[in-house]
Amino acid sequence: MYEAYWELRDKPFRKTPDPRYLFLNETYEEALERLLFAVEEMELALLTGEVGSGKTLLTRALVDRVGERYEVGMILNPRLPPRQFLRTVALELGVAEPGYHSNDLLDQIHGRLLALDEDNRAALLVVDEAHLIPGKPTFEEIRLLTNFQLDDRNLIAIVLVGQPELRQRLRHRTYRALTQRFGVSFEIVPLSVDDTRAYLAHRLAVAGGERTLFTEEAIGRLHAGTGGVPRLLNHVATQALVEAMARGADEVDGGAVAAVLEDDFATEGRVVTPSRKEGAPLGARKK
Ligand SMILES: Nc1ncnc2c1ncn2[C@@H]1O[C@H](COP(=O)(O)OP(=O)(O)O)[C@@H](O)[C@H]1O
Ligand SMILES: [Mg+2]
Repeated sequence: MYEAYWELRDKPFRKTPDPRYLFLNETYEEALERLLFAVEEMELALLTGEVGSGKTLLTRALVDRVGERYEVGMILNPRLPPRQFLRTVALELGVAEPGYHSNDLLDQIHGRLLALDEDNRAALLVVDEAHLIPGKPTFEEIRLLTNFQLDDRNLIAIVLVGQPELRQRLRHRTYRALTQRFGVSFEIVPLSVDDTRAYLAHRLAVAGGERTLFTEEAIGRLHAGTGGVPRLLNHVATQALVEAMARGADEVDGGAVAAVLEDDFATEGRVVTPSRKEGAPLGARKK
């Protein structure tokens, strides 16, 4: 109901990854370009970023862009031992009756990839929340999948998506055989203050708003309180809209944002994290 008060057609800061609201600053644009490149080259790619930084939304944008040519498999919960993981991959890529043993599954997946290639198509596998992969054996299956290739081309593109600790973990030498295959590696960094301003404006505009609504001070506090993490921004911005409405205000000022942040669980103890633009290299990187 606060939509009406702020003259909006829709709730501008829902926490769902709705592609209509996709905001592309330089970082997201570059991430998307690199991932598209990785898919075109049929490479293995790594995308990391904090919780709520926009990884899942970006992979949706990626899938939208790669188009019909790709048979897309999406694994949203890879907390799976190797055999179940392979089974899920097989099902996702359209293997009709996945077998029981790992070797059968690998054969079936291989057959499916060759059939796709015959049809002038290709496979894209996205493994979201890859930091939840339980152990090395499952990563080993992923490495085996990247072995499916013809003389001149790979048969499957794989994008591993996860929180920053995934990158840390893969640095260990035990994963070297896998990480040497990364063609693209990208880390999403939080929004700057300027990006935060643009992000808020973008989402308000998509929701049908014609005004900025947030004062400069409010924007500064939103950024400081959330570290520029989009999911947290959505959370605090929504509450600030409600708070300012309760105050009968005609804009959201710094005071309204401060009141929301004061006893907010989601943002408690957060500080603005200065961070690098790109993750340190892991294996080969091409542009
Ligand atoms: N580039 C973006 N454009 C618009 N909204 C975004 C963007 N990145 C993140 N968000 C918002 O933040 C929420 C969390 O993003 P999500 O992709 O689920 O994060 P992650 O997968 O990294 O935890 C999304 O549902 C969306 O509402
Ligand atoms: Mg996610």
